[in-house]
Amino acid sequence: MPSAFNPFYTLNSANCSLVVDCRGNAPTILHWGSRLTDATSPEMLALLATRQELQACQTEEAPIALSPETAAGFTGSPGVQIHRNGRHWAVYTQIESARSSDNQIIIISLCQGTEIQLTHCLQLDADTNVLTATTEITNRGSSALSVDRCDAPCIPLPMHYNKILGFTGRWANEFQLQSIDRVAGAYVRENRSGRTSHDSFPGVIIHCEHTNENLGAAYGLHLGWSGNHHMRIEEQSTGRAYAQLGELFLPGEMSLEPGESYCSPTLYGASTDNGLSALSGAFHGYIRSSLTDRRVVNKVKPVHFNTWEAVYFDLSFDRLCELADSAAEVGVERFVLDDGWFKNRKSDSAGLGDWFVDETVFPHGLGPLIDYVHDRKMEFGLWVEPEMVNPDSDLYRSHPDWVLNTDPAPLLLSRNQLVLDLTRVEVQTYLFERLDALLSDYAIGYLKWDMNRAIHQPGNQDGRAVSHYQTRALYSLLERIRAAHPTVEIESCSSGGGRADFGILAFTDRIWTSDSNDALDRLGIQKGFSLFFPPELMGAHVGPSCCHATGRVLSMETRAGVAMFGHMGIEVNLLDMDDDQKDTLKTAVVLHKKHRQLLHSGKLMRLDTQRGESGFGVVAIDGSEALFSYAQLDSLLHSVGGRLRFVGLDKHGIYEVNIVWPLEPSSYSKSILDVINGSVISGDALANVGLQLPIMLPTSLLIFHLRRC
Ligand code: GLA
Repeated sequence: MPSAFNPFYTLNSANCSLVVDCRGNAPTILHWGSRLTDATSPEMLALLATRQELQACQTEEAPIALSPETAAGFTGSPGVQIHRNGRHWAVYTQIESARSSDNQIIIISLCQGTEIQLTHCLQLDADTNVLTATTEITNRGSSALSVDRCDAPCIPLPMHYNKILGFTGRWANEFQLQSIDRVAGAYVRENRSGRTSHDSFPGVIIHCEHTNENLGAAYGLHLGWSGNHHMRIEEQSTGRAYAQLGELFLPGEMSLEPGESYCSPTLYGASTDNGLSALSGAFHGYIRSSLTDRRVVNKVKPVHFNTWEAVYFDLSFDRLCELADSAAEVGVERFVLDDGWFKNRKSDSAGLGDWFVDETVFPHGLGPLIDYVHDRKMEFGLWVEPEMVNPDSDLYRSHPDWVLNTDPAPLLLSRNQLVLDLTRVEVQTYLFERLDALLSDYAIGYLKWDMNRAIHQPGNQDGRAVSHYQTRALYSLLERIRAAHPTVEIESCSSGGGRADFGILAFTDRIWTSDSNDALDRLGIQKGFSLFFPPELMGAHVGPSCCHATGRVLSMETRAGVAMFGHMGIEVNLLDMDDDQKDTLKTAVVLHKKHRQLLHSGKLMRLDTQRGESGFGVVAIDGSEALFSYAQLDSLLHSVGGRLRFVGLDKHGIYEVNIVWPLEPSSYSKSILDVINGSVISGDALANVGLQLPIMLPTSLLIFHLRRC
C-alpha cells in the first residue's frame, strides 16, 4: 500500500522556505529560514544534517520533533505531557497522514500507547513570510485524558543563533528589552497572571552574535494568547537548541473526554537575514493583512482625546463639555470618556460591575454628552472593565458567588477589585446584556476595554482551576459584542499594555501601550512594542507636562513628537493648558494627520543608535517618502552631535529633506538646522554618510521629512 505521506514537505513564501521532515516517527523541522533555490532538494538538507555523537552518547539522537517525545529518547522538554490517572503518559507517535496545500502542511500522528492523536498545522504566509503553527491533541481513548502540556510546534534553533532578546517590564514600563547570551540550560519565562502580562510578553527573538536592526539573522517568535503561558529556549549538551512556547495549565485544568480536542494557541514566527527591523516588518505586514479586522483596515485612525489623566474621576457634564470644546479645537476626532461614568464610581474603590450610567453626573443619561461630542464632529468612545467587580457594588452584593476564588484562601483584592468568573453562563449573560444595552441605547463608536488586575485566584465555585476557560470566555464575550455591534471598535487595555498579543487582536483594534505617558520612557516602551506590533495599533498619547507616572517634566514638542508616531491621542487637561502650548499641540495634530497615512502603512525602520539617543523612521513601502525621528535623551557625550543615518530609503533616489518638528528648531550658532531644509540629497548619501546632527538639548527631538523628487 502506498504511504499516506511523503518523506518531506516544503513550503515556500516570497523570501522563506520551510522544510518538514516526515521520515522518522514524528515530524521535524529540517529547515526554516531563507528561501532555498530550486537547486536544493530536501534530501540534500537531510544529508547535510548528518551528525556524529561522541562515544558513550546516544548513537542516534532523538529528533527535536514538532512535539518532542520522551519515549523517542528526547531528553529535553517534551512538547506534550499527558496521562490517564498516572498511566499512559509516554507519548510515542507514528505519522498517520500528511498533506500540503496553499502554503499549509497538516500532519496527523497517532500514539497507540496513549491513544492520542496529534495534528500539527504549519502555514507560511506567501507575502509576509510569517509562519503560523499549532498543535492539536485529540483523545482517541475511552477514558478521560489529563493534559498537562500541549505546546505549539517546537522550533529547532540554528547553532549560531546564540543571543536571546527577551522582554521584561512592569506597570507603566512595559516591553523592556533584555539581551542575554544563549547558554547551556534553559531561558524560561512563565506567566501565571491570567492575562498576557506586563512583565512576560509572550515573544522572543533569537539571533546571531552581530545581528542589529538592519543586518544579520534572527528568528522572532510570539504566542498569540492572552492568558497563562510559558516559553523555553533550551540549549542541550548535544549543542542542539530549541524554542518551545505554549499555554501554561494549572493543575487539573485541561482534561479531555473521549473524542475531545485541545488546540494550542497559534505560534507566530518570522525569520530574517536582514536585521530586526525586517523581522518586525514581517509581523507588521502579517497583522495588516491577516489580523486587522477588515472593517477598520482602511479606516483612518482618528486622533483621540481621553479623559483619564485630564480629570480622573472628577466628572461633571459641564466640565466634559468644556473639554470636548477644547478637544475639537485642537483637532481631536474621537472623544473617549474614561473611568468614572457609571453608578457608584467616584473612586477606584466602588462601582465596578454596575454598568448603568451614574445619574448623579448624567441625569439624562449619556445622550446629551454624546450629542455634544457629535455636534463637534467627534466620535464618542467609552471605557469599560467588564471582567471585574468591586465588593462595594450592587452586583457583588447580589451575586457574591460570581467571583473567581481559591477557597478557603481569603479573597485577594487588587485595586480594590475581584474577578468575575466569566465561565459562568449567567455572568456572560449579564455582561453581554449590559454592554449590549449601552451600545444599543447610545451612539458609541468605540470601547476602551480594560482589565486592571492579575487573576491571582483563578478557581471556580467547584474548586477547579479555570484560567484557560476564563481567557476563552473573554474571547467569546468580545466576539459576541463584535457580532452584535460590528461598527464598534474596541481597544485592548490592561492597566496599560498588560494585554497586548496577537490572540486579542482577533477581537480588538487598538492596544493601549502603557499607562506611562512620559515621552522619554515611551520611546523605550514603544521600541519594544514595535518589534511585534505596527504603529497604527499603538495607542500613544500626549500627556501632561509633568508626567503622572514619573514626575518628569518634558516640553510639548517632545511629548507630541513621540506620540505622533503611533495612533495619536491626547490625555491632558486642556482646560489648564496655556494658549502657546495649545497652539503647539494643535500644530502637532495637524502634522500627524498630514503624515498618518504614511505612518500607519509604511515600513518601520529602527536605527542602531548610541546610548542616550533614540532614532527610528517610517518609510513608504515604495520608498517615495519617509518620516524619521531622532531624540537626544541625555547630555551629549562629545562636543559635537552624532550622525543620523537614514536607512530603508531608495539608494538611487534623490530626496528633499526638511525638518518638520519642532516648527522652529533653534541653535546658537551655524548648524545643519540652517542649511538642511529644502536640500536635495541622495538616498545613498543619507544612508551611508548620514547627516551631522546639531547640538541638541537633552530630552529634545527632531523629526525629518524626506520626499523623493
Ligand atoms: C487603567 C488604564 C488607564 C485608565 C484607568 C481607569 O489603569 O490603563 O488608562 O483607563 O485604568 O481606571
